Amino acid sequence: KQLQQQFVHQVIGHKPEHNRLNASKSVGKGSAPVNIALSKYWGKRDTILNLPTNGSASISLPGLGTETQVKIISATKNHQDKVSLNGELLEAEAPFAKRVSNFLNYFRGNSHTLFEVTTCNSVPTAAGLASSASGYAALVLALDDLFEWNLADKELSLLARLGSGSASRSLFPGFSVWHQGTQTDGLDSYAEAIETQWPEFCIGLLEIDVKQKPVSSTQGMQNTVETCALYQAWPEQANRDLQTILNAIEEKNFSTLGKTAEHNALTMHATMIATWPPIVYWQPESVEAMHKVWQLREQGVEVYFTMDAGPNLKLLFLQTEKPAIKQAFKDVKILEPFKH
Ligand code: DP6
Repeated sequence: KQLQQQFVHQVIGHKPEHNRLNASKSVGKGSAPVNIALSKYWGKRDTILNLPTNGSASISLPGLGTETQVKIISATKNHQDKVSLNGELLEAEAPFAKRVSNFLNYFRGNSHTLFEVTTCNSVPTAAGLASSASGYAALVLALDDLFEWNLADKELSLLARLGSGSASRSLFPGFSVWHQGTQTDGLDSYAEAIETQWPEFCIGLLEIDVKQKPVSSTQGMQNTVETCALYQAWPEQANRDLQTILNAIEEKNFSTLGKTAEHNALTMHATMIATWPPIVYWQPESVEAMHKVWQLREQGVEVYFTMDAGPNLKLLFLQTEKPAIKQAFKDVKILEPFKH
């Protein structure tokens, strides 16, 4: 906890106990989108400061994400924070509430400060649609609002990263890149917006199963790092893929972007499967959908997929393929990240 508190101190420029609370501002608010990694983050080189073994890039989804409010409350029964999720007050022992309270420990200043956090997701929690990413980004924005830090994007991203790695990328609309960083203090590992607008770019969400995932990303990637021999090859390939994807975004080379994103996702899943105990997020329907994507490509429909720590597929395609995608996947939800 001390290391994280020191990190927060460096980022916000003062110790948490010197947080100013403006009397007129009793509630802080923040909202952030979910993001889907095109080049994945899988594995930490530092589990305390949440530093990744490789950089990653993502795209944010408009209209899907988290809205959070935070306020300071006076003493509660049992001296615990109040955390509610989607309208339900959680038990202090619930994993979600515990993780949020642990994160808030870095901002408390003194142990008497308690927070009330009210958070609403417009995506199923922990179903592989990166709700922790939008969740910690929204929480950091709400804290920034409450304490009136007025932090810049870089600092907000550093703080969000401490809550959940992928949250560092959820502060921006459109494409974003999370720099791996090399420093041990973690101050150079943050995400930035990529300015490219790509109005034809579409994402299709194929929901296979929205139940809570069996192994969290945090636990899953740690097990992979510790027990998977194939993982040795991952950081290098991941950073190469990241570079290829960044170039493809800049050149708007959709084929290269799609191929690299799909290959990168499958490589990550290969390391998961080769972990012990094995981590297999796929359901039979996930594999069926992959085959359908490959079949479509053979028929000349340019569509690729990516998957995170869950059974759902995210399809990547350009607007011209929209009719073909709708026809092939009846329940697909299509999003156009660059059309407002
Ligand atoms: C597969 O960011 O959820 O979605 O840092 O431990 O909170 P923690 O992990 P998290 O991991 C996301 C993993 C991923 C790939 C990605 O989003 O890059």
